[in-house]
Amino acid sequence: MSKCCAWAKRRGSSPVFAKLRRVHFTRRLSAWPYTHTLRGNGYMCLVVRKSPIAGFGVFTDAPISTGEVIHCLSGESISLLNCAARVILGRLSEDSPLATGRFTYIQLDDFSVRFNHSSEPNAAMRGESELFAHRDIAPGEEITYDYSLTVLPNPVTWFWRMPCNCGAESCRGVVKNIRQIPFHRIEELTNAKALQDFVIAWVQRNIYA
Ligand SMILES: C[S@@+](CC[C@H](N)C(=O)[O-])C[C@H]1O[C@@H](n2cnc3c(N)ncnc32)[C@H](O)[C@@H]1O
Ligand SMILES: [Zn+2]
Repeated sequence: MSKCCAWAKRRGSSPVFAKLRRVHFTRRLSAWPYTHTLRGNGYMCLVVRKSPIAGFGVFTDAPISTGEVIHCLSGESISLLNCAARVILGRLSEDSPLATGRFTYIQLDDFSVRFNHSSEPNAAMRGESELFAHRDIAPGEEITYDYSLTVLPNPVTWFWRMPCNCGAESCRGVVKNIRQIPFHRIEELTNAKALQDFVIAWVQRNIYA
């Protein structure tokens, strides 16, 4: 009996099922670094590669036009308290969760967590967690957004700091919560609806009120 048949027998299934399972697994593995997002004129290809900014980042293999949706960041929805507990217990990096409301976060999935920060980003967030192109993006460019624009000040985020290596001319050196961003910039982004809904609500309550 071949090794494959013996393995399949031990698992209590036929060699055909064993082969199908293996092919499916291999396809899933080889598809891991890519995601294909449906767009008006076909699919855009996003690829996870080593980034000059930090670790891995997400790059595009196709041109993306201003305003186009790049990816809906997703993962496990958790409360602010749960998020803080996971960070304190070392189960979650403090730079990784994405806020979707004043008291709600997403622990991002393996792909969504790969987008790096830049102080001169080519993408921005809107709605709950929709990443879209803030300007035209050329093939080969890394896709980045400004983390500060997703972090409202509260007792948990007040002391959050992330050293920045984005290399942009206007690099802030250390990334902090949204209070770090000048008022006129927040106003521009609010008018352009280039902020998440809960951030726009916060701006209207705290800055325009
Ligand atoms: C949400 S992850 C981004 C993906 C990450 N580079 C990876 O390889 O998984 C956030 C982490 O990436 C790094 N990072 C993201 N943007 C950065 C930046 N502009 N400068 C320095 N480190 C950055 C930090 O280590 C941060 O903890
Ligand atoms: Zn920077």
